[in-house]
Amino acid sequence: MTTTARIDSLAQYHLLGRSGLRVSPLCLGAMTFGTEWGWGSPKDTAHRILARYLEAGGNFVDTADGYTGGSSEAIIGDYFAQAGGRDRAVIATKFTVNTWPGDPNAGGNGRKNIRRALEGSLRRLKTDYVDLYWLHAWDGMTPVEEVMGTLDALVREGKVRYIGLSDVPAWYFARAQSLAEQEGWERVAALQLEYSLVERNIEREHIPAALALGASITPWSPLASGLLSGKYTREGTQAKGEGRLPSIQGGGNPGFEKLFTERNWAIVDALREVATELDRSPAQVALAWVTRRPGVASTIIGATRMEQLEANLHALDVRIPDALAAKLEAVSRPERVHPYHFFEEDFFTGGMFTGGTTVRAEPTWFRPAPR
Ligand SMILES: NC(=O)c1ccc[n+]([C@@H]2O[C@H](COP(=O)([O-])OP(=O)(O)OC[C@H]3O[C@@H](n4cnc5c(N)ncnc54)[C@H](OP(=O)(O)O)[C@@H]3O)[C@@H](O)[C@H]2O)c1
Repeated sequence: MTTTARIDSLAQYHLLGRSGLRVSPLCLGAMTFGTEWGWGSPKDTAHRILARYLEAGGNFVDTADGYTGGSSEAIIGDYFAQAGGRDRAVIATKFTVNTWPGDPNAGGNGRKNIRRALEGSLRRLKTDYVDLYWLHAWDGMTPVEEVMGTLDALVREGKVRYIGLSDVPAWYFARAQSLAEQEGWERVAALQLEYSLVERNIEREHIPAALALGASITPWSPLASGLLSGKYTREGTQAKGEGRLPSIQGGGNPGFEKLFTERNWAIVDALREVATELDRSPAQVALAWVTRRPGVASTIIGATRMEQLEANLHALDVRIPDALAAKLEAVSRPERVHPYHFFEEDFFTGGMFTGGTTVRAEPTWFRPAPR
C-alpha cells in the first residue's frame, strides 16, 4: 500500500541558523541513492523515496559530489528534471572529497577545487544553483580566508544561496564565522556533524559554538548507520542481520568500526526498552531524541526502503517522557573529560564561579544536565 498523506509535523519548517532559509525538521539524506557502494537503493526506489518525502511536506535534500561516485546527485537531478518542483526544494550538496585520483586540486577546500566541484554538481543536479553548499570536511591545510572568501563569491554570483560546514573542528567554525562577520561575508548557516545516542561528542564544543555564533546543527547518521534501528543482533560486538552494517564492518573504516563497542550495545538495549514502553520503534525513539536536542534545526535521515522512510517521518510525533529520557541519558552520556567537567551543571552550581548566588544567563549556552 502506498501512503500519500501529508505529515503536518514535517511541514513545520525551521529557519536554518541566523538565515532566512526555511527547512523541514527532517532532511532527506541521499548518500544511499545509487548502488555503487553496495548498500544504497537503485534509482527507481530512490525516486519513490524522494517523491514520498516531498509529498509528505519535506523540502530539504542532502547529497554530496562524492556520494556513490556522483550517482546520488544525478539521481536527484533526473528526478526534478522529470517531476518538476526544483525551486520548491532546498537542495544541499558538498565539495572536498577528491574525485580524480592523482590530482591534488580535484579535492580539498582550495578555490580551484571548490569551483571545479560546484560546476560538476550543478551539471549532475541539472540546476543552475545550489541552495546550501557544504564544505564536506576540513582538509587541514587550506587557509580559512580562502574558503570563506570563495564561498562568499559563489553566493554573490548566484550559484549558491547559503553555506555550511560539515565535519570541522569547532575552533575552525568559530574562526570562519568571526571572519565572515568581520568582512561582511556570507555567514555559516549550519554545521553538519555526526550526532546520535551513540555519538554525542559534539555536545562539548560544536553545539555551544553553534548556539553562540548563530548556526544550526543538522545531525548526520542519527541512527548510527542503522545500529539504532534495533534490527541487528550481536555476535561479540559485531552486528548480525540484514542491512548496511554487516557489509561494512571489518572493512577498516574507523568511522564505522567505532560503532561496535560494548557501550553502544548497552545503548541499543536501553533504547529497545524505552521503545517498548512507548510502543514505538527504536528508530523512531532514536530520531525523536536527536531532533529535540539544543541547536538542532533539521536531522538528516537515511532510508533505503519505503517502509523505513514512512516510519522515520513519523518520529517527529514521538515524545519521550522525562523518566525514559533520563534512562537514555544515563546510558549514553559522554565521558567526563577535561576541561569540560568545569562547565557541567553540578560543577557550576557548586558555587566556584558564582559564590553561591543564582545567575540567570541568556540560553545561548548549552550546559549538560546534572549527572
Ligand atoms: N557529512 C558527512 O560526513 C556525512 C556522513 C554520513 C552521512 N551524511 C548524511 O546523512 C545522511 C544520513 O546518514 P545515514 O544514512 O548514515 O543515516 P542513519 O539514519 O544513521 O542510517 C540510515 C540507515 O539505517 C537503516 N534504517 C533507516 N531507518 C530504518 C528503520 N526504520 N528500520 C530499520 N532500518 C532503518 C537503513 O539502512 P539499511 O539499508 O541497512 O536498512 C538506512 O539506510 C546521508 O544520506 C548523508 O546525506 C553525511
